[in-house]
Amino acid sequence: MTVRTILFVNLRRIQREGRESLLAARRLGYKAVLLGRSLPEFAKPLVHEFRQVDTYDREASLAAAREIAAEYDLAGVANFTEIDVQLVAAIAADLGLPGMSETAALRGRNKYAMKDALRHLDGVLPRFAKVQDLAELRAAVEEIGLPAVVKPTGASGSKGIFELRKPDDLDAAMERLTQIAQPDFDPVFRQFGAEFIVEEFLEGDELSVEGFVSGGEVHVVTITDKVTSVPFHLELEHKVPSALPETAWGEIKATTKDIIAGLEFDNCAFHLEAKWGERGLRFIEVAARPAGDYIGSHLVPLATGVDYFENVVRVATGEPLSLDHDRKLNVGLKFVLAERAGRFEEIEGLPAVCGDPGLDHVFYEVAAGTEVALPPQNFGQQRVAAVIASHPERSGLEALLGRISGEVRARVAPVVGHAE
Ligand SMILES: Nc1ncnc2c1ncn2[C@@H]1O[C@H](COP(=O)(O)OP(=O)(O)O)[C@@H](O)[C@H]1O
Ligand SMILES: [Mg+2]
Repeated sequence: MTVRTILFVNLRRIQREGRESLLAARRLGYKAVLLGRSLPEFAKPLVHEFRQVDTYDREASLAAAREIAAEYDLAGVANFTEIDVQLVAAIAADLGLPGMSETAALRGRNKYAMKDALRHLDGVLPRFAKVQDLAELRAAVEEIGLPAVVKPTGASGSKGIFELRKPDDLDAAMERLTQIAQPDFDPVFRQFGAEFIVEEFLEGDELSVEGFVSGGEVHVVTITDKVTSVPFHLELEHKVPSALPETAWGEIKATTKDIIAGLEFDNCAFHLEAKWGERGLRFIEVAARPAGDYIGSHLVPLATGVDYFENVVRVATGEPLSLDHDRKLNVGLKFVLAERAGRFEEIEGLPAVCGDPGLDHVFYEVAAGTEVALPPQNFGQQRVAAVIASHPERSGLEALLGRISGEVRARVAPVVGHAE
């Protein structure tokens, strides 16, 4: 029997997640060929072949994918990352593999194109406008009102989320956003650059919807409750499944289907973010890829028994999905954030809490001794570790996560000679 091959385009930055994605392909009996900017050490034994290419260069990447397709019996092309959504759609179209249209992929990547395509949905979107400079932002806020949020149209990972609460905030946010939205600050800005979207500030409980769309059919696997930090909205805590009432689940699932259909997403995992409040579901964004933050790799499988990453491989290759839940456990994650800039030394308090059998995993994201900075200087270093907990009951999970907040903290030493 010939072993079929799946083409991966880059891996998630968090190594555990990247590893889980390659292991999922292997479990399903696929050889993985990786097209990407680099091959991390952990991936070497899991990747059949690595082709180095600058995946920001679409033509070079398409040419490399064609060469790979000439050598291997490719069953599909998969991405687990935000930045590769459009490239993967283009490769799939070029090679005749399951994928989505380029229009859908653009809507997946650009927060303005996304909302623009959903104007027909009643009462779901915040008021919004595209802006490129301070004058445009001021004019837009006249219409939208305060509080509002301004953010880059093409970023992810909470890079450059600015709350606008009073008129003065507009100048400061636009000044900082113009500095941030540069490829030198982060390559995510190579495509859409200094293009921003300003939105009415949505109130309510934050959630995400984890699912798949395959051959036009939308499947919701679960809903995650989420907490983000103030004021820069870094992800702080996730809990699966959401504790919202059944009526909310019903509305969330129905609106999710309308959103995915409106965007014409297909043959992909999706991670939809929204708020649930007095006015029902209000939409923030949806990504055409599996959730990060260990949600897809760990939380969903631990809580439901659905192997989320295996299904990412299935949806990419056109295999039937396997979405039956075999358990009902409450699983949550808490990020440990550095409270100030400096040199990260250690996570304190872990030995005391880790004796609890409900504490499943601890992930260090930053090595001891690394210098860390906080937003708005840096949006990726504040998070130094993540702790996962599980419990048969939601209240038990809350108690465990409460212990992590209360007893676990990052020790960060000041760096002499640096301003904090
Ligand atoms: N219109 C909004 N109202 C309230 N909060 C928002 C709004 N837009 C973004 N946020 C907050 O900022 C976070 C990140 O914004 P998002 O658009 O999801 O960008 P990213 O691509 O960085 O995840 C959201 O999860 C939410 O907490
Ligand atoms: Mg988001």
